Amino acid sequence: MNWERWLSEASKSAKASDIREILKLTTRSDMISLAGGLPDPTLFPVAEYATAMQRVMEQNGPEALQYSTTEGLNELRVELVKELERDGIACPEGIENIILTTGSQQALQLLGIMLIDPGDTVLVEAPSYLGAFQAFGLRSPRYETIEMDANGLKIEALEAKLAQLKHEGRHPKFLYTVPTFQNPAGVTLSLERRKALVELAERENFLIIEDDPYGRLRFRGEPLPSLKSLDQNGRVILLRTFSKTLAPGLRTGYVVGPPRPLRRLVILKQAADLCSPAITQFIILEMLKAGAMERYVQQVIEVYRHKEEVMATALKTYLGNSSVRWNEPDGGMFFWVTLPEKLDVSPLLNEAIEAGVAYVKGTAFYSDGTSGSNCLRLNFSQPSPAQIETGISRLAAIIENRLKIS
Ligand SMILES: Cc1ncc(COP(=O)(O)O)c(C=O)c1O
Repeated sequence: MNWERWLSEASKSAKASDIREILKLTTRSDMISLAGGLPDPTLFPVAEYATAMQRVMEQNGPEALQYSTTEGLNELRVELVKELERDGIACPEGIENIILTTGSQQALQLLGIMLIDPGDTVLVEAPSYLGAFQAFGLRSPRYETIEMDANGLKIEALEAKLAQLKHEGRHPKFLYTVPTFQNPAGVTLSLERRKALVELAERENFLIIEDDPYGRLRFRGEPLPSLKSLDQNGRVILLRTFSKTLAPGLRTGYVVGPPRPLRRLVILKQAADLCSPAITQFIILEMLKAGAMERYVQQVIEVYRHKEEVMATALKTYLGNSSVRWNEPDGGMFFWVTLPEKLDVSPLLNEAIEAGVAYVKGTAFYSDGTSGSNCLRLNFSQPSPAQIETGISRLAAIIENRLKIS
C-alpha cells in the first residue's frame, strides 16, 4: 500500500535526527562513539534509585501508580521553586511558575505549538540543538540564524539581524538559545552579553526560550546568572531537565515562566500525554530529598572534567600542529571542531566509521542543512578516557590524511 498519500504535510516534512541515525551504526563492538550526547551510564547511582523506588512504593504506591495532574506533582514543584530561588530565579507565583514535562524535548514541542504559526520567524543560534529544529519544524517556522563566537551569541549580529528583519517587515516571535555549554558548540554566553540580550529582547519585543540542560555540569569557572534571573517582565521561558543531573531515562524536565503561558502549555500537554509519569516524579522527589542528586552531580562534574581534559590533550597531541580549531568548554559534554572551510566532513564520516570512530557532522546543527559542512561535534561524557584517546587518534589520522590531499 502507498502510505505516502495518507501522510499529513507536517509528518512528511519531519526529518530523522542525524544523531539517532548515526547511533544505529555505532553498535559495532569496536566502534568508539564520540557522536552521542549521552551521560556516562557507569555513573548512574543504581543502588540509590533502588532505595528511592522501594520508598516510593512503600510510602506513595497508589498515588505513584495513578495519573498525576498535568502540571506535575505539587511536592516536587515546591522543591523546584526552592532550587530556582537559590539560583536567583524568582518565582513570584510559587508553584504556578513551574510545570513538569516529559523531558525538555516535550517542552520544546509544546512551545513550538503554542508560539509558532507556519511562516513565523524564529531566531536560533548558528549552530543550534537539532532536537529543537525537529520540535519547532513541525510548525514550519522561518529560521533566522545568529552567529556565535567563543562568548556565545554575538549581540551585534543579533542587532543587525533584527534591523534587517524590520526592514523586511518581519518580527521574530522568539529567540531559542542554549546559553550555557551550548549543544553543539560548547560555548557559554558571557555575563555582559546575557544582560545585553535580555535588554535587547525588552527593547525589540521578542520572547526568549532559554534551554538549560547543561548549566549544572560546570567543571571550570564561576556560574553565571541565567537569562531568566535577569528577566523583569516575564518574557523569558526557562527549560530545565533532570536528564543530565539525574538520568535521561526518567524523561522529566520542567518549564519556568509566568502562569498565563504555562496554563496554555498545560492545555497542550493534556493533548500530548495527559501528564508526565507520576512514578518518576515521586522518584525524583525522593532522590532530591536524600541528597542523591547533589552527590551524583558532583561526581559527574569530576569525571567529565577529567574526560574533557583527556579530549583536549588528545586533540592537541594529534591535531595541534594542523589548521584544525576547536573550543575548550568549561562544562557540558561537547567539543566543536572546525576544519578549514573547503573541507567537507560528510565524506570523512564514512571513513571514520570504517576506522571505528563516529562523530556528528556539523550540518546536522544548522536549519539549512548545508552550513557547518567543515565542522563536527565530539562528545566526551559517554566514552571512557581510553576510548577518547583512541577515538581522537583515529579521527586525527583521517583528518590529517584529507588535509594532505586537499
Ligand atoms: C539543548 C538540549 N535541549 C533539550 C534536550 C532534550 O533533553 P531531555 O532529555 O530533557 O528531553 C537536549 C538533549 O540532549 C539538549 O541538548
